[in-house]
Amino acid sequence: EFHHHPKPLKLASDGPFGKFDNAQLQRGFLVFEKVCASCHSLNLASFRDLQQIGYNEAEVKKIAKDWPIKQPVQDPKAGTWGERDNLASDRFPKVFYPGTGTPPDLTLIAKARHNGGAYIYSLLTGYEDKQPAELLKNFPGAKTPEGSHYNPYFANLNIAMPPPLTGDDQVTYSDGTRATKDQMAKDVAAFLVWSSEPTLQKRHAAGFAVVIFLLIATGLAYGAYLTVWRGVK
Ligand code: HEM
Repeated sequence: EFHHHPKPLKLASDGPFGKFDNAQLQRGFLVFEKVCASCHSLNLASFRDLQQIGYNEAEVKKIAKDWPIKQPVQDPKAGTWGERDNLASDRFPKVFYPGTGTPPDLTLIAKARHNGGAYIYSLLTGYEDKQPAELLKNFPGAKTPEGSHYNPYFANLNIAMPPPLTGDDQVTYSDGTRATKDQMAKDVAAFLVWSSEPTLQKRHAAGFAVVIFLLIATGLAYGAYLTVWRGVK
């Protein structure tokens, strides 16, 4: 098999007790901002959603205002298009990408791909310089075309995205975490898991409330059963 399954990735949000790790999500957002956002949009999220991962209102306003891709606005009279700075209430703007291929919007990518977090982590760290000789022997048509990149975690094996994480310290984390390539890949994967389901923690809490309610209801039903049938032979 030439197409690889994702490498395992452990995240704080995994499992029924999972909770988001805001420090990691903020590191992941920084990677998204500094590395991915020049090609990929996050158009189903708005800037103020970042408050959920621990940024305050002033920080969100500043992130929005400084965002390099501006919000398109249409002049109501002339019908012509211009742009303005982003507001906290705006969605992350769409990105025009002039290169080969179409970078998909990343808001829901962690849900769109099976085992999304691990997949993103593996994809980002999985580029290889050389294609396996075996692959080329058996499938000469799979040869990486010009402008494409060999990545065995991508279903197609050859991906139009150039390796975005090229080495350590591409970003500087403010929490002291060393920004190795592996760490940046994990953090941005965690961030995209959050963006694809920001209400995950609430879903887990609601699930617990339901299970506890059902346990109590079962106890009550059993108690009622004992009472109703007491004395009946
Ligand atoms: C595709 C993530 C940076 C260009 C993708 C996909 C993901 C992704 C998950 C979808 C793969 C799939 O369909 O399964 C990221 C992350 C980045 C990043 C997390 C930052 C760390 C970039 C940059 C560029 C870029 C900087 C442009 C220079 C593309 C393109 C595709 C793509 C063109 C489409 C590939 C194809 O369909 O062959 N990216 N990306 N990405 N990305 Fe990125």
